[in-house]
Amino acid sequence: MSILITGGAGYIGSHTCVELLSAGYDIVVIDNYSNSCNESLERVKKISGKEFSYYECDIRNKEGLDKIFKEHNIEAVIHFAGLKAVGESCQKPLEYYDNNIGGTIALVEVMRNNGCKKMVFSSSATVYGEENQVPFIETMKTGTTTNPYGTTKLYIENILKDIYAADNEWSIVLLRYFNPVGAHISGLIGEAPSFPNNLMPYISQVAVGKREFLSVFGNNYPTPDGTGVRDYIHVVDLALGHVKAIDFALPRTGVEIFNLGTGNGTSVLGLVKAFEEATGVPVPYKIVEPRAGDVAYSYANAQKALDILGWKAERDVTKMCEDTWRWQKNNPNGYNS
Ligand code: NAD
Ligand code: UFG
Repeated sequence: MSILITGGAGYIGSHTCVELLSAGYDIVVIDNYSNSCNESLERVKKISGKEFSYYECDIRNKEGLDKIFKEHNIEAVIHFAGLKAVGESCQKPLEYYDNNIGGTIALVEVMRNNGCKKMVFSSSATVYGEENQVPFIETMKTGTTTNPYGTTKLYIENILKDIYAADNEWSIVLLRYFNPVGAHISGLIGEAPSFPNNLMPYISQVAVGKREFLSVFGNNYPTPDGTGVRDYIHVVDLALGHVKAIDFALPRTGVEIFNLGTGNGTSVLGLVKAFEEATGVPVPYKIVEPRAGDVAYSYANAQKALDILGWKAERDVTKMCEDTWRWQKNNPNGYNS
């Protein structure tokens, strides 16, 4: 029996592959490499010392997917595959709806046809929208999303809930990630964006000399230092959360939602300072205009994952910065270094 990992060559997927293999799971990976390459999977093999099959396959390719389901005994799917750039999703909404929502529908159809009804899905804290107050808790009503990317996450959550309502043989776990950062301690795998849209990759690219300075998006938010506060979570803790989620999903049916965050908030300037202290490398910055759609605060209530999954984030902000820096320094151009 294997777990199929869609989007497994990507940032969170590759770290999750390492932790699943180390927990003794057999895995099969598919990815269309639209935002990754198979080098990350070769490095997963190197870190884990284990073999597994991987395929270049788009989740919208039902024939290709069906073949993979027929070749392997797939017990459950961890579904990471998707496009994730907030800004780009505003320029290309159709591509985002087609890839993320259309892709999920194709995948779920092939799963059902092959009698596989267990899925762990990568959702996002973005579904809490602008209406809810921090700390975000799973029982809150979802809010209004501010971009097509966020809307795809909200719709997919609702689609998966409807699928369970119609057929309660399904077991679905919706994981709402907060802000994943950091890298595997080996420095072999990490986040490799061609352009850094998120704070931590931008900081590390400034530190390594690829960018001159960080633009801090606004310092007039109602937060202690005026900059946005987020719940940064080490990607290895996040990956371990997936192992717990799959352990939970396999013997059950139902739909459960879990926040995967630390429960702590760090401001933009707080993260810059932590990075400088952890690495000894200066990160010059300039305050610029706020970015459209940003909220002042986003952090989790992380109690449910602890109570039900027995999972808690263990790695602190210093460790997130150290591990990001090791990866960035050793791989200044990502997997092309
Ligand atoms: P990533 O881009 O590194 O990984 C996603 C992977 O999916 C990539 O390897 C990409 O090539 C692949 N992919 C995209 N469309 C595909 C398709 N149609 N068929 C097959 N493969 C496809 O991103 P990530 O940061 O690892 O994110 C993984 C998941 O977690 C995504 O669904 C993302 O939306 C979600 N998420 C990420 C964050 C974050 O900040 N990184 C936060 C919340 C949720
Ligand atoms: N920021 C800067 N400068 C930058 C980049 C970001 O000041 O160059 C600030 C932002 O304004 C924000 C904080 O750093 O205050 C974090 O921004 P990120 O872009 O790293 O993360 P977000 O919280 O905006 O977005 C993340 C994910 C999205 C997801 C969202 C809500 O990237 O996929 O959380 O869950 F939708």
